[in-house]
Amino acid sequence: MNKMLTEQDFIFKNNGIATPENGSFTWKTPSNIALIKYWGKREPQLPENPSISFTLDACFTLTTLEFTKCKLNNKNVQFDIFFEGKKKGDFKPKIEKFFTLIQQYVPFITDYNFVIHSRNSFPHSSGIASSASGMAALALCVMSLEKQLNPTITDEFFNRKASFLARLGSGSASRSIEGELVVWGNHNDIEDSSDLYGIKFPSTIHDNFKNYHDTILLVDKGEKQVSSTVGHNLMHTHPFAEKRFEQAHQNLSKLKSVLQNGNVKEFITILESEALTLHAMMLTSNPYFILMKPNTLSIINKIWEFRAETNSSICFTLDAGANVHVLFPEKEKKSVNQFIVNDLLPFCQNNHYICDRVGLGAKQIK
Ligand code: PMV
Repeated sequence: MNKMLTEQDFIFKNNGIATPENGSFTWKTPSNIALIKYWGKREPQLPENPSISFTLDACFTLTTLEFTKCKLNNKNVQFDIFFEGKKKGDFKPKIEKFFTLIQQYVPFITDYNFVIHSRNSFPHSSGIASSASGMAALALCVMSLEKQLNPTITDEFFNRKASFLARLGSGSASRSIEGELVVWGNHNDIEDSSDLYGIKFPSTIHDNFKNYHDTILLVDKGEKQVSSTVGHNLMHTHPFAEKRFEQAHQNLSKLKSVLQNGNVKEFITILESEALTLHAMMLTSNPYFILMKPNTLSIINKIWEFRAETNSSICFTLDAGANVHVLFPEKEKKSVNQFIVNDLLPFCQNNHYICDRVGLGAKQIK
């Protein structure tokens, strides 16, 4: 059994190694899609229930962190951010907050002026959240700097601390470091699981779930009317919150067995129930809100019809928005792709969709 890491373990201890004058690190970091949803949190960005996600492959953020030692002793981290080649002042507050939150764990960051260059593989206003891949990429770049200062850290510690730091930027970012399945949040049946960071799903995954496909149907590319932050906070006063958190624990126990025994039918039931429950929490929050659009429901109904007619293992999940993630096994890719193109694209904004699949996690680009 691995050692459970505590918050204290993540505080960088000055070991006297001189900090490098300048340099840069680049990480390509995937997005992820939750199968069991995280919805509800407490300070400091800890989940009210455990979640598990497929790491994606085609949807990623590519981030380079350039660093130059500064002459002055700064209290705050100095940086500029360029997104797709353009200076992005409006991205600064979120990153500033992130740096402030992680500073106590990586105090060497105030020794530098940083220039961040970032781009996403998916269109900026696609309704696909870039906070998971974006925050994870930045956390990994900072960890590469830490590794230079302390080359003795293990790969496991590197990944866990990267996930720990990413979590402080955006909860779901904690699940964007490794592949193919990542659990974040304490769960009795999942050895080593922690609220502080994500871990690779520790059991063997049945072949049925290898190379699983996720085609993302872009129903509404506009900005969400209610942010995830607001949604999470509404769970504090939600009348069904406690039951929901309990249910997520139960669903993760069931899903753990399913991922090992390959029962795709049961997989579908758990996933679709989780997606609809997430949105049911939104519908029953105070104040209530709806992020699904009419086309979201049309797509869901079409998927159900197709499944009934063809006995396919196609299913859907949703994140906090109107887009639909269509999941299916590798062996059905031909028939399902045809169904998507013929029957589902008319419900997408400008026929826009992204073909993705389960990926292996973040990669450093040298
Ligand atoms: O990481 P956040 O704060 O953007 O929250 C993500 C919440 C969901 O995407 C709806 C669910 C999840 O587990 O990713």
